[in-house]
Amino acid sequence: MKKLIKNGTIVTATDTYVADVLLEDGKIAVIGHHLPSEGVEVLDAEGCYIFPGGVDPHTHLEMPFGGTVSKDDFETGTIAAAFGGTTTIIDFCLTDKGVPLQNSIQTWHEKSRDKAVIDYSFHLMIGEMTEEVMKELPTVIEKEGITSFKVFMAYKNVLQADDETLFKTLVMAKEQGALVLVHAENGDVIDYLTKQALAKGETAPIHHAKTRPSELEGEATGRACLLTELADSQLYVVHVTCREAAEQIAQARAKGVSVYGETCPQYLVLDETELERPNFEGAKYVWSPPLRDKSHQRYLWNALSSGQLQTLGSDQCSFDFDGQKTLGKDDFSKIPNGGPFIEDRFSVLFSEGVGKGRITLNQFVDIVSTQSAKLFGLYPEKGTIAVGSDADLVIFDPTKERILSKDHHHMAVDYNAFEGMKIQGEPMTVLSRGEYVIKDGTFVGKLGNGRYIKRKRFNEKALRQEAVISN
Ligand code: URP
Ligand code: ZN
Ligand code: ZN
Ligand code: ZN
Repeated sequence: MKKLIKNGTIVTATDTYVADVLLEDGKIAVIGHHLPSEGVEVLDAEGCYIFPGGVDPHTHLEMPFGGTVSKDDFETGTIAAAFGGTTTIIDFCLTDKGVPLQNSIQTWHEKSRDKAVIDYSFHLMIGEMTEEVMKELPTVIEKEGITSFKVFMAYKNVLQADDETLFKTLVMAKEQGALVLVHAENGDVIDYLTKQALAKGETAPIHHAKTRPSELEGEATGRACLLTELADSQLYVVHVTCREAAEQIAQARAKGVSVYGETCPQYLVLDETELERPNFEGAKYVWSPPLRDKSHQRYLWNALSSGQLQTLGSDQCSFDFDGQKTLGKDDFSKIPNGGPFIEDRFSVLFSEGVGKGRITLNQFVDIVSTQSAKLFGLYPEKGTIAVGSDADLVIFDPTKERILSKDHHHMAVDYNAFEGMKIQGEPMTVLSRGEYVIKDGTFVGKLGNGRYIKRKRFNEKALRQEAVISN
């Protein structure tokens, strides 16, 4: 049945206006004033914003990591995402050296099939650039619609790739129209500092942060930017945490290098003192790169509001405190890295960003949805409210106050990193291609209704373009 959303305030990356929205066959069919309500289901959005559904460009669901597997899978993870106002995620498909890329992609299809309640896509990890990998890539791009490739510059002896692999990936991406993602930290030096700390008996969670200083994130970010410039390619730096890295990105952009950056809500509102919590609770805040000194936060906010960083990813990679984080009780390097953020990414940015005057309402939409859709070949089907776009919408009540807590979040883990934080605003109703996933705060979606999305190639011009819809 057609749905008509009345009385809401539509917010896109560029405009804010009051209008009715008619949804038909999963798409936005009409936007206008006083649309007739005969024979349609009417949703009253009085007092609410209508946002395009959030696009989370960075999740790790059911991912083997740190001797265990991240707890939220495509079922709990996408349900939590939907509660939080996110209607599309891009998850990281890990690969193994010597194994055909297609095998890894099939593993990820199996994890997600019949589980996701919102649409999803995959980035693919590149750990080596052999003849075989090079031969497979055009098919991966063409058939799977995977147009973004991740290179880890850290996690030595686990996921880390060398500079040759990064450079070859950048060259390939230029040729194929793909975007290269980097986890930018100097893994070799971190490995050395970690061994030194452990030899001195420094085993507590805080030493995770101390052995991964921000300078090493800045160095790796600068190196990746330089290699991108040499290859005349395009780069997206995931989870930027600090002044040093943000400055490297801004400098490269000033030179005209095609570099983009993402930060995450945790880096905007939490700092490294969390890792000093007693009774090993600091382990709840162990992820990489680590939380920083509070002084870095204003650089991240300013980079978002000035457009030097474009997106917000959750970097969802959740582990229970009990039984998973505790694997590192006697050795911080054995604490599985990651945290639960998929659900609160959207609302933390709204409350701390718009609510506190750090970004505008339109910038909020741009950062939480539109820029990711544009960068990753999902726009304008995703990431905006326009005639012909997918009816992925959030009816958001900006007046609702609430406290974030594990007691009522929907992620599968036993803690919330934002526990006790008071925020303003709540997604009330969330639609995926015109179907309810969350209705007045209750989950009514269906497992498997989320579709795998094949993405378009990276297109620099699309980043500057308004919605052009040809259906
Ligand atoms: O600690 C983190 N961030 N875990 C997930 C993997 C990654 O590095 O993004
Ligand atoms: Zn009117
Ligand atoms: Zn990472
Ligand atoms: Zn990540």
